[in-house]
Amino acid sequence: MKSKLIILSLLLSMMYACTPTQDSPDVVAPVWSPEVDQPSELAVIMRAIHQEGIDRKASLEKGMLSTANSSLIFDMITAQPTEPHMVGPAFEPHAQGFIYSYSEIASATSVPAQIEAHNNLVKSCVACHMNFCQGPISRIEKLYIH
Ligand code: HEC
Repeated sequence: MKSKLIILSLLLSMMYACTPTQDSPDVVAPVWSPEVDQPSELAVIMRAIHQEGIDRKASLEKGMLSTANSSLIFDMITAQPTEPHMVGPAFEPHAQGFIYSYSEIASATSVPAQIEAHNNLVKSCVACHMNFCQGPISRIEKLYIH
């Protein structure tokens, strides 16, 4: 069952979008390439949480705790993706894991604890993206605080 799902999601991720940036060379800044199409509801949330991750990283690297804006996160489960296959039976558990990691960020009371929670969150971004949307993974990995 599990392996079927994995094969299915591999197939889907090979066949479908989410790849506009896959072959582009590493760009330094969080620059979005101009897009002709309107982004989906889910893509808009993703851009916001990505930007939030960039800001949080910058703040933590300066030794400052950052606040977490959780309202976006809960919309993730119900948001419409660009293509219906971008979400599926395996999507929700990833989203739940993500929400859990996010709550750890919100409740962290020290910079080292928030850095750890932030890195765990980035791990859960990458985990879901492996299944559903591989294009942005290299950009997401830049969010890790080393
Ligand atoms: C539960 C699965 C899941 C999680 C967790 C997740 N993503 Fe996504 N992400 C997606 C899917 C699916 C898309 C494609 C959305 C679409 O095009 O409609 C996407 C798209 C994106 C995009 C491209 C948006 C665009 O411009 O089209 C970025 C950037 C992104 N995610 C960053 C992140 C970051 C950063 C995190 C963690 C903070 C994260 N994602 C967590 C599933 C997820």
